[in-house]
Amino acid sequence: MELSLAHSAQSSPAAAMASSLSGATSARLLPAASRAAARVSLSPSPSSLKCLRSISSSPLTSHLFLQQRRRSIQVPSVSYSGIASPKCAVSTPEQLKSAKEDIKDLLKTTFCHPILVRLGWHDAGTYNKNIEEWPKRGGANGSLRFEIELKHAANAGLVNALKLLQPIKDRYSGVTYADLFQLASATAVEESGGPKIPMKYGRVDVSGPEECPEEGRLPDAGPPSPANHLRDVFYRMGLNDQEIVALSGAHTLGRSRPERSGWGKPETKYTKDGPGAPGGQSWTVQWLKFDNFYFKDIKAKRDEDLLVLPTDAVLFEDPSFKVYAEKYAVDQEAFFKDYAEAHAKLSNLGAKFDPPEGIVIDDGPARPAPEKFEAAKYSSGKRELSDAMKQKIRAEYETIGGSPDKPLKSNYFLNIMIVIAALAVLTSLFGN
Ligand code: HEM
Repeated sequence: MELSLAHSAQSSPAAAMASSLSGATSARLLPAASRAAARVSLSPSPSSLKCLRSISSSPLTSHLFLQQRRRSIQVPSVSYSGIASPKCAVSTPEQLKSAKEDIKDLLKTTFCHPILVRLGWHDAGTYNKNIEEWPKRGGANGSLRFEIELKHAANAGLVNALKLLQPIKDRYSGVTYADLFQLASATAVEESGGPKIPMKYGRVDVSGPEECPEEGRLPDAGPPSPANHLRDVFYRMGLNDQEIVALSGAHTLGRSRPERSGWGKPETKYTKDGPGAPGGQSWTVQWLKFDNFYFKDIKAKRDEDLLVLPTDAVLFEDPSFKVYAEKYAVDQEAFFKDYAEAHAKLSNLGAKFDPPEGIVIDDGPARPAPEKFEAAKYSSGKRELSDAMKQKIRAEYETIGGSPDKPLKSNYFLNIMIVIAALAVLTSLFGN
């Protein structure tokens, strides 16, 4: 059954937004009724924080500070009652572009970047390259919208991401869930300062819950042998060691919440005030900024308020993973390049595209295209130069140490003397 978010008070867009907003932020952004909903859904359940236990499942655990895990994981109670919106076979470029703008607006008001990235990853990450048949092979096919898959332990909390996106899905019937999840994830990375992801769209949606993958295809954060486990899971998706390390770098965003995954502290000095719903433990200090601090901070291991899961720590322990982790810790550009490629690859796993080559949406130029130099434009008449051309001229002056405002610093007298001397030498050479 597809998850219906349209009919209950709890599942209204306002309540969904509330679940991701801090009290202070919601007070600013939401109307009174919505703020009331926000207050209700923001109070943490004490019972959900009760059964925590310490773990020591990695050789590095002594460095891992407080890692906490719950014995059982609760799936949020939501209303699952019917079809959310009309199904659609394929996405259209115009609607994809508009949906992207709406996602940007959503990000600006709710700060939900991290959970959208996790949503996209968990839809795609069920892919099994050893199964040819679609959609049995899993992957980016929108199956994560169904209750049965949302209830998988690994997906705890992702119902909130779906609630945030559902109003956008309702506005654009010409965008599939599979595309919307990946569009939201890539947009969240880009909008938080990360690299531009070379995305394509046109993913076809699965049509029913019976097409969801079985539970257990996504990685566990604290397995007995983290390196082997990561390889088992990611190799099954057709990804390699470099891609495992690069993609793990997405933990530069977001937080872990004990009441969802069982991992992390209930709150830290970096998360107690949000933005977004306060609480959880982040991997980085600025957990809404996409950068390479995930690698820097794991390496430094010096802040007890920052999270290091066993599967994060192993990136600096395993000899093959370590090569990439060390590189990304010192070279953000290399990380961004590898991350962008790996993210795009992840987003395509298991997907069936219609049209088969996919749809590339043109965002328009990220910055104004450089003005082409046309000699004719400047060769006659007195015309005002464009700003771009003025900048170009200024740059050219500056490379030779001058400025268009001031004459070049040069010794004209000396230049004339040199020319006269050169002429004198030539005359004496050829004159005889
Ligand atoms: C390598 C194996 C991975 C493991 C074991 C893992 C595990 C986890 C766990 C336990 C959480 C906390 C969830 C919560 O409590 O709400 C989490 C959050 C997150 N994960 Fe991963 N993850 C892995 C890989 C990835 C990948 C490949 C991506 C994206 C490309 C990703 C993106 C995220 C993000 C953005 C969050 C923060 C979500 C939020 O703040 O709501 N993770 N992950």
